[in-house]
Amino acid sequence: MSYPAASALSLPPDVRPIVWRAMEQTVNGVVVSDATQPNNPLVYVNTGFTRMTGYPAQEVLGRNCGFLQLGDRDQPGVHRLREAIARGEDVTVVLRNYRRDGSLFWNRVEMSPVREATTGRITHFFAVQTDVTLEREREEMSQVRSLELERAIGSHPMGMVTLAADGRVTLCSPAGVALLGLGDGQVLGLSLSQLLKRVATLADVDSEQLPWPEPGQSCLWELRRPQQRVIEVSASSVGSLTGEQMAVLRDVTQQRQQQASRDHFLATAAHELRTPLGSIRGFTELMLMRNYNPEQARPLLETVLKQAVRLGGLLDDLLDLAQLDERGREAFALEPVDLCHVVRQASEVIEMPENRHQLVLELPDSPQWVLGHAARLEQVVINLMSNAVKYSPNGGRVCCRVAASSAEGECTLEVSDQGIGLSDEEIGRLFTRFFRANPGGPIPGTGLGLSLVKEMVERMNGRVDVNSTPGQGSTFTLHLVRPTGQHPS
Ligand SMILES: Cc1cc2nc3c(=O)[nH]c(=O)nc-3n(C[C@H](O)[C@H](O)[C@H](O)COP(=O)(O)O)c2cc1C
Repeated sequence: MSYPAASALSLPPDVRPIVWRAMEQTVNGVVVSDATQPNNPLVYVNTGFTRMTGYPAQEVLGRNCGFLQLGDRDQPGVHRLREAIARGEDVTVVLRNYRRDGSLFWNRVEMSPVREATTGRITHFFAVQTDVTLEREREEMSQVRSLELERAIGSHPMGMVTLAADGRVTLCSPAGVALLGLGDGQVLGLSLSQLLKRVATLADVDSEQLPWPEPGQSCLWELRRPQQRVIEVSASSVGSLTGEQMAVLRDVTQQRQQQASRDHFLATAAHELRTPLGSIRGFTELMLMRNYNPEQARPLLETVLKQAVRLGGLLDDLLDLAQLDERGREAFALEPVDLCHVVRQASEVIEMPENRHQLVLELPDSPQWVLGHAARLEQVVINLMSNAVKYSPNGGRVCCRVAASSAEGECTLEVSDQGIGLSDEEIGRLFTRFFRANPGGPIPGTGLGLSLVKEMVERMNGRVDVNSTPGQGSTFTLHLVRPTGQHPS
């Protein structure tokens, strides 16, 4: 066997100084150690080595190169180097080394044995050393960044799916798996069409109903299983060179439902406002066109007034609802309120036409504290009382009873009447906005009162129940929460 090292001897004499200059001028460290001596002492180090490590040649020749480790010897690279030396093999390792001033640098050492041309006996080792600190730092930084990114993607409530240039799934975040209902099924490595097919099957839809948007665009997926939901899929291209794509998945079910109920509410509100406005306009035009005497004009003016009052009531209720919707739970601050006091106050403003009704208050002697908002609670009670009066056109008893509930920490107010009552079907829709029992009948109302009652009571952490028998009357029961701890006496 012959060894290529022999060719160095055949370097033409004019090339030798060039090779020598190249060795001295390269930015890399170049070192040679004597393999025939114990401990492999260095016999040559170039200028690049001195520039890189800060050690001049005279300080290091005759020493083993391990001094660069400065005691930091337990490194996998050092072990591999030792083994390669023992076996007489080539090796490339990256080591933590220390300059003469003690500062750390990462050193890539590419080492090879130097053999005798004829016998193959190893006489020396030769190594090229490169300072790779910058590369290493960049690598570490990008590793940290991708770890952080992975963690951020993993914990982000929006789902994320990334696709390689060939359309294969390279990542599907936990939120993405949950949004698409993929369960434990493995999706990495699936092609886009396989992924869409799997989602379609699990969601019980046709895969054609799951379009994949172009980068920069988005589309909606309406999924049926495990529950009805709408997912917005927005795609973007991640690497214009690599062709990678990312899609962000967002559950927009709630927004869509809210939007639909807002649209419905606006359409109904506009319709409800237009009705009284239409009759005010119609009657006023009639009176302007005809020359009515005061007696003829009176019923028309009464209708105009009634409709104007209704319009005002509608606007008040709409504003109240808008305020509740906008401010949500913070619509009003809750404090201990004496329910008996609220009922007494409300009873003073209730109008009972033609004295056909008898308002009975059954209140305990002591204050009954509940958690609420005094003015809003009074509005709720007035609403229930005036409903009781309105829906018992033939009169009768309207009874308001405050009692400590059987449920602990609760207090109830029952408002009952002997009026026309409600059917089960009406009860089912009673608290829906704009629902009116007896629509078009003689009983005035906006259809918003009870929905306001319900929403206000819920914001006081309470609830409202109804019990009714057609032709016999209704009982509305407010369940309110008692405040804990101290309250005014
Ligand atoms: C030619 C040659 C160059 C070497 N260069 C380096 C070096 O740049 N940095 C380093 O930490 N170790 C280097 N070593 C390795 C050490 O000299 C030593 O072999 C290593 O620490 C294992 O030896 P040990 O058993 O004495 O620890 C080099 C070894 C040889 C033979």
